[in-house]
Amino acid sequence: MPANPERTLLCGGLEISRLVCGLWQVADMEKNGQPLDPVRAADALEDYAKAGFDTFDMADHYGSAELITGRLLQRYAGANKRPVAFTKWCPEPDSMTAEVVRKGITERLERLGVSKVDLLQFHWWTFEHPAWLDALHEMAALRKEGLIASIGVTNFDAAHLALALADGIPIVSNQVSFSLIDRRAAGALSELCRLKNVTLLAYGTLCGGFLSEKWLGKPEPTEIRDWSRSKYKRFIDAAGGWQAFQCVLAAADRVARKHKVSIANVATRWVLDHEAVAACIIGARLGESEHRVDNLKVFSFALDAEDRALLADSFAGTKPVPGDCGDEYRKPPYLTASGDLSHHLSAIPSIFAGTPVPQRPGRQRVSSGSVWEPIAGYSRAVRVKNVIHVSGTTATHGANHCVAPGDAGAQTTYILDKIAAAIAALGGTMNDVVRTRIYLRDGAKWEPVSRAHGRVFGQVMPANTLIEAGNLIGDYEVEIEAEAIVD
Ligand SMILES: NC(=O)c1ccc[n+]([C@@H]2O[C@H](COP(=O)([O-])OP(=O)(O)OC[C@H]3O[C@@H](n4cnc5c(N)ncnc54)[C@H](OP(=O)(O)O)[C@@H]3O)[C@@H](O)[C@H]2O)c1
Repeated sequence: MPANPERTLLCGGLEISRLVCGLWQVADMEKNGQPLDPVRAADALEDYAKAGFDTFDMADHYGSAELITGRLLQRYAGANKRPVAFTKWCPEPDSMTAEVVRKGITERLERLGVSKVDLLQFHWWTFEHPAWLDALHEMAALRKEGLIASIGVTNFDAAHLALALADGIPIVSNQVSFSLIDRRAAGALSELCRLKNVTLLAYGTLCGGFLSEKWLGKPEPTEIRDWSRSKYKRFIDAAGGWQAFQCVLAAADRVARKHKVSIANVATRWVLDHEAVAACIIGARLGESEHRVDNLKVFSFALDAEDRALLADSFAGTKPVPGDCGDEYRKPPYLTASGDLSHHLSAIPSIFAGTPVPQRPGRQRVSSGSVWEPIAGYSRAVRVKNVIHVSGTTATHGANHCVAPGDAGAQTTYILDKIAAAIAALGGTMNDVVRTRIYLRDGAKWEPVSRAHGRVFGQVMPANTLIEAGNLIGDYEVEIEAEAIVD
């Protein structure tokens, strides 16, 4: 058995352990308001680091995890090599000015006690609020300034990762749920990562510990206390329920016995073997439980074709987790530790805050604040009784930035978010859309546009027209208008 976990280089050139120590569990252990003893917790991290598990993942909201890691890093002051600290910034959607972003990143630097964050991963709650692009552009500027070594994102679906890359953000990684139970990341996201040289950092690989001998053949739990298992029990339910889960667990157990390793090892190996995956992040309950010796065995064996086939057969009894990566934070079914997030999402201010403007009884309009709206006399969208008409919408961000120049598919993703926000501001949803019209500059680019439209409207199926318009105004590849009828 190897003495240390395998290592790999993230695209930014950062060397990391392929088993990253995840510190969300710190927040769970501190949920009663009592922080962990920082010295003892840093001792525990030091034990991980000395055993080669020297890459740690945390976030702004993981209790005192950043402070504990900061304490660990202090112990390496003056050394030519120190542990690697990934963190996340998960701001509430609102205006992302340079000051707001600098403040968010500076707080990470201060809590970690470093002058540069190794990997700063960005999370955003709703793409209908477009300030996420401003935040990422500001992060790119702070990277140039030397405050961030590499930029990552977390819980981005393939379409929005593609959009961010097409708009020039130098993203090296996307942290997403990926396991024998949640296999979404193996699809479009992995293909995008392959094409664009972005890596995946997988979490949930052990479903909070459910993917282990401890749960093999056991009855379905009725009471779960820790956040991690609460979350992954929802994934198990969405993937077909406890019996379907037990079939996957039994298959993993057969493979594990054959190789004389654990079920956790098989679950981790299966995820690590995906080309896009740089590392698995395995949660650690510091000072409570510790699985390093077992987890190291991940590097002692290989899955063969028979093992893969056995696991694939067991998937047949499960259902795919709905949606794309990260959808669990943005739409039903909400598969998060706290469950339904609709109250959180509905409290997020709309980009059209301050509108709609009532015009006369039964008529309202929303404006995106473009200087041209009053000059040319038009609205982003108008609602007359229960019908919403959305103007031809282009991928204009802010005053005049054309998003993702030349990329018709990415522009379509951006446009449909804008249309969704306008319809929502007038009391409708994308499910109410009955017609879309797409104007394309270059008819040869129909396919990425059609696919982006299909991702949003695959179930709604509005009437649609796709036209090669040849001469769109400005640098835009595509312009889309929509109509919705609110029941
Ligand atoms: N970006 C995001 O939105 C997001 C979301 C969730 C998590 N994460 C990251 O991913 C990390 C992983 O956390 P997770 O919640 O996904 O949990 P996980 O890694 O799937 O499960 C961790 C749990 O598995 C058990 N375990 C670990 N090794 C084991 C082994 N060899 N055999 C048996 N059981 C083993 C331990 O349970 P016991 O301690 O009970 O033994 C441990 O607490 C987090 O700490 C965080 O850094 C990120």
